[in-house]
Amino acid sequence: MSSISQVNADVLKQAQQRIQQDLLTALAAFSIPEPLKAAVHHTVMLGGKRVRPALCYAAAALRPNSNFAAVRRAAVAVELIHCYSLAHDDLPCMDNDLLRRGQPTCHVAFGEDTALLAGDILQSMAFEILGSRLFDEQGQGTDAAIVLKQVQILATASSKMVCGQVSDIQAEGKMVEQVELENIHRNKTGALIQAAIMMGAVTIFTGTDQAIPKLRQFGQAIGLAFQVQDDILDITASTETLGKTAGKDEQVQKSTYPALMGLEQAQAYAQRLHDQAFEALAYLGDDAKELTAISQFLLARKS
Ligand code: IPE
Ligand code: IPE
Ligand code: MG
Ligand code: MG
Ligand code: MG
Repeated sequence: MSSISQVNADVLKQAQQRIQQDLLTALAAFSIPEPLKAAVHHTVMLGGKRVRPALCYAAAALRPNSNFAAVRRAAVAVELIHCYSLAHDDLPCMDNDLLRRGQPTCHVAFGEDTALLAGDILQSMAFEILGSRLFDEQGQGTDAAIVLKQVQILATASSKMVCGQVSDIQAEGKMVEQVELENIHRNKTGALIQAAIMMGAVTIFTGTDQAIPKLRQFGQAIGLAFQVQDDILDITASTETLGKTAGKDEQVQKSTYPALMGLEQAQAYAQRLHDQAFEALAYLGDDAKELTAISQFLLARKS
């Protein structure tokens, strides 16, 4: 019999295989000049856990789903926005990082100008894909109301990410209050994770379905937990395991949860947030087994 952790890893692995294929298909639909094309490929295709697409698929699997093309487009779009955020986050004027996903960062490989533009084009590509007919079976379209909701969800989260990033930079070298730090983390990271879940959810649920507020709660808890864990891993994991430079937050005096409350308290806080996430999922019962599997994977993640 396979262990629970094996089942969880399998759910994520399946999602990773699917998104890898769909990202390749999506990128191939664009005509981009070199060196931008190579920079985009570098930023999107090399590594990454693909947690956001996995959450999007898992939310869309809560019910039988006849809008799967819209789910696949949303998974691609949210990963492209995430990749753009990483390329810009690593720039010298931002976190100034040299290593990402075990590779040289985009600006190290292609220069700052190209890395900036790679992020820019990834952002518009995400929305172009969301509004396209990519993955539609012949003759089968998607209800325009669903696409519109997905565009709104992704655009809102993407703006929040940018607002979170500016607050994150302004909070460097300062000791901010917990409520302010929570706000930064919810915006810079939590919002996009919650959006991945909601873009899957709107393909099966209407706004009045009771599952929607539960999924929002779940997304909020798991999204904040994700950045608290990212802060913890920056201290506890190695550069090799992370695929990005460990110990970076302390070096540049970032405002993080371990810096604010100490490592152990931060770990306990991440656990509490995961408990909240599991509680929200409990309402959805056995249908939420994929979301539960991914949440368990996230709780135990080491990179
Ligand atoms: C890293 O995100 C940046 C944050 C928002 C914390 P991930 O940990 O999801 O990075 P990849 O996609 O797996 O590289
Ligand atoms: C990044 O937070 C959030 C983004 C919007 C990319 P971090 O700056 O902590 O992410 P890493 O640690 O570089 O991946
Ligand atoms: Mg950053
Ligand atoms: Mg960073
Ligand atoms: Mg970090």
